[in-house]
Amino acid sequence: MKKKKLNLIYFSPTETTKTIVKAIADGMKIHNVTEINLTKTENIKDYRFNQDDVVIIGVPVYSGRIPLIALQRLERIKANQSKAILVVVYGNRHYDDALLELKNLTKKIGFEIIAASAFVGVHSYSTVDYPIATDRPNNEDLQVAKNLGEQAFSKISGKYLEINVPGNFPYRERSPKLDVKPKTDLNLCDFCGLCKKVCPVDAITILENKIDIDAKLCIYCHACVKICPQNARIIDDERIVAFSKKLHENCQEPRPIEIFI
Ligand SMILES: Cc1cc2nc3c(=O)[nH]c(=O)nc-3n(C[C@H](O)[C@H](O)[C@H](O)COP(=O)(O)O)c2cc1C
Repeated sequence: MKKKKLNLIYFSPTETTKTIVKAIADGMKIHNVTEINLTKTENIKDYRFNQDDVVIIGVPVYSGRIPLIALQRLERIKANQSKAILVVVYGNRHYDDALLELKNLTKKIGFEIIAASAFVGVHSYSTVDYPIATDRPNNEDLQVAKNLGEQAFSKISGKYLEINVPGNFPYRERSPKLDVKPKTDLNLCDFCGLCKKVCPVDAITILENKIDIDAKLCIYCHACVKICPQNARIIDDERIVAFSKKLHENCQEPRPIEIFI
């Protein structure tokens, strides 16, 4: 077998997807590893992969779909029969059509899918008042991810057989984009700039005595809220708060990981 290269590609504003992608990689015996963090706008470009590339592709589930912004960044990739392991990470509600959408997209751009999976991560909307899956991924989840890596590794040189995943086509409608403007408590903010650094859509501008957010760009991924060391960032939009409450009430039962290999 020619020497394989492992590529970790993920869009992961609050980093649960990244954690799972890396746990899968841990299970694979490939030491030549490249990481492509598509959450960061500076990493958006036209990547090309060939038959010696193995790729783990991870995205979170937004409204039962792949986040549109992640889809647009992934669409710029071209592969030539490179092997792919797919991962969607969802916040303990459901992943609906996201895995099917990821499979169809990655097939279209030239990947051969050797494994697909749906993992559970803490919901981005989880708050102290309305916690949702706060303990996921737990150690057991990460062990399942590592085992998946081991299994997928043993399939790399095998014959390609189509993998079936759940989901419907036409996919469910994406939720309409809300204009949400995360707020900054200027009594707490020390203008460290971390929020701007993690924003996947460059929606944050730091001015001399205030932080400005472009609500048209914001995808309410909650990256800025979760990263803020001063707890100065708040999303108190009543629609999001109502959604957090509803998810907290309805999504308590731990959802399973699903593996298709
Ligand atoms: C806008 C938005 C929509 C979401 N929609 C869903 C959903 O439909 N189902 C679900 O279970 N979780 C949903 N989530 C939760 C995320 O899928 C989950 O928290 C994931 O772990 C976030 O990944 P990340 O940490 O890599 O950003 C949503 C989160 C956001 C921000």
